[in-house]
Amino acid sequence: MATHEAMARINENYLKLQAGYLFPEIGRRVGAFQKKNPDAAVIKLGIGDVTRPLVPAVLEAFHAAVEEMGTDAGFRGYGPEQGYGFLVDLIREHDYAARGVEIAADEIFVSDGSKCDSGNIQEIFGIGNVVALADPVYPVYLDTNVMAGRTGEADDQGRYGGIVYMPAVAENGFNPEPPSVRADLVYLCSPNNPTGAVSTREQLARWVDYARQNDAVILFDAAYEGFIADPSLPHSIYEVEGAREVAIEFRSFSKSAGFTGTRCAFTVVPKTVMGKTASGQSVSLNDLWNRRQTTKFNGVSYPVQQAAAAVYTPEGRQQTGEIVRFYMENARLIREGLSASGLEVYGGENAPYIWFRTPGGLTSWDFFDRLLEKTQVVGTPGSGFGPSGEGYFRLSAFNSRENVEEAIARVTRTSW
Ligand code: MLT
Repeated sequence: MATHEAMARINENYLKLQAGYLFPEIGRRVGAFQKKNPDAAVIKLGIGDVTRPLVPAVLEAFHAAVEEMGTDAGFRGYGPEQGYGFLVDLIREHDYAARGVEIAADEIFVSDGSKCDSGNIQEIFGIGNVVALADPVYPVYLDTNVMAGRTGEADDQGRYGGIVYMPAVAENGFNPEPPSVRADLVYLCSPNNPTGAVSTREQLARWVDYARQNDAVILFDAAYEGFIADPSLPHSIYEVEGAREVAIEFRSFSKSAGFTGTRCAFTVVPKTVMGKTASGQSVSLNDLWNRRQTTKFNGVSYPVQQAAAAVYTPEGRQQTGEIVRFYMENARLIREGLSASGLEVYGGENAPYIWFRTPGGLTSWDFFDRLLEKTQVVGTPGSGFGPSGEGYFRLSAFNSRENVEEAIARVTRTSW
């Protein structure tokens, strides 16, 4: 029998994490509530998961590509790990060149999701790097750095040692300024999950300056850019001068084209973004990410990439645009309904998330439980996104009109 010493050792950094990832924990609580109240009509505005089906243009291309795979001439085995040229070229043209940004084909890496990419990117960086994060923010950035061992333990408010937290609160418009201390890796998310705030060009320019002055790399998550309605707001960090030297960008088809279950995204790593070895030698992060992806990833399936390519056809753009407008109308209804009931509400104008202060000073989780009990509406507790999210709450705009109207009616007639 194996001795204690001979057993497989675990990565103990995992033990520093909070017990469960935020969304499964919400699922667990909702499941327990439903078990106790099997007839309750629960409305889920918690996880940001889309509800509208794939649009006809996407579906048609998806079907056609599946058919092709069943023919001798059209069958494909492994594709390029970085994505097929037909999709990469469409991304270059529509997402970048059309906005005046030059991105080369070999700077784009098609993948199965921004969650995976924004979680995996930290692997190409040394363990000693100092990480700066907005607080609150999408939990994947922090958790993956905890898993890698780039932090100390969490304190009783959930703040991990070694992380530079940048509070994003009502007082700074949920757009923190660059910190006064040095950081090597800076995670930014705009439009922001969870606050719905969007950085202006000027704000992003200050981050680019910070990165240049500190030899830092910005990891810019733009998974929600498709929801930006204000034409003055940037969709890509590369719209800012100098960003090509310091930023990596994550984009996704998940939310704007309904691909959460279909899986397609891409990451841009310009060849001009460099990191350093301990001895000071410059190394291309594009080379490292390519090496990482070709070793650990075999690409997105051909039919899924054809489905994603169809998003860029005139029909695809029009049809996905309609869905985005549908969700944003939900966001408006939630935002205005909550405001009219006296709550302090943010976001929801250029992002599918509505962020508000919990009534009566309730903690985020207390409000979660009370909301579920009193209205059978599920949201996401702000503290799940970071300590500065305590006392806030997020609702997502992804649901049917009927459910959104019903949820808001229930919430606004409830006293807390
Ligand atoms: C969320 O609700 O924050 C999203 O579902 C996160 C994600 O896209 O992984």
